[in-house]
Amino acid sequence: MEIQRYSSTAIIIHWVMAIMIIAMICMGIYMADLPKGSDERSWFFSLHKSIGLTLALLAISRLAWRMISPPPMLPSIVSITHQKMAKATHHLLYLMMFIQPVTGYISSSFSGYKTKFWGVPLPHWGWKNPELNELFTEMHEISAICLVILIVLHIGGVAYHLHRKETEIFKRMWF
Ligand code: HEM
Ligand code: HEM
Repeated sequence: MEIQRYSSTAIIIHWVMAIMIIAMICMGIYMADLPKGSDERSWFFSLHKSIGLTLALLAISRLAWRMISPPPMLPSIVSITHQKMAKATHHLLYLMMFIQPVTGYISSSFSGYKTKFWGVPLPHWGWKNPELNELFTEMHEISAICLVILIVLHIGGVAYHLHRKETEIFKRMWF
């Protein structure tokens, strides 16, 4: 049976974003505990913001590409329930790929500092407001937890199919 694979563009974006998102989660947890006012903290914050905004642009490109080149149908050996679960997880992962950088960007806009994108200051529409900064930082944390849960479910789903020797599921998203 011939395997219906994702397009090369979708595969490249999937793996580049997967590595970047996992690295960003680790970086976010690490940098949040660094001492306030330290050079290391501001270096990591600035890198985190630039990579995060790059991820937002990649998510937009990915969604646009998905509309041009829709994902291949899952093989019929995958039960309808699992197909529905995979679809729901993928849709929620897409949602979080937007919510995560947007909450981070809004919280930064109320920090009193200009948000820079790889050194270039972005239009500063926010103002210093500790309450709003705190609120969106909390939303950023909660959405990171939701994202981690979804990634675990997603990897669990792929692992389940690999365990059942349905390796074509993995090959659909491999080079
Ligand atoms: C941050 C991490 C990840 C995110 C956000 C993510 C997101 C996604 C999304 C949204 C899809 C649906 C395809 C699309 O429409 O673009 C997908 C498919 C897929 N992902 Fe991931 N992924 C991540 C990590 C991983 C990892 C670590 C693996 C390896 C175990 C993996 C294996 C796959 C496979 C095999 C598919 C194809 C499923 C199918 O046949 O429909 N992903 N991923
Ligand atoms: C997909 C992209 C992103 C991921 C996966 C991500 C993930 C995280 C995580 C896991 C944390 C640690 C939360 C905690 O335990 O306190 C964090 C903190 C943070 N993120 Fe992000 N982030 C992303 C994008 C962004 C963007 C675009 C910005 C701003 C432009 C941003 C700004 C921040 C800031 C300022 C903190 C520190 C909050 C604090 O403790 O004061 N993030 N991020």
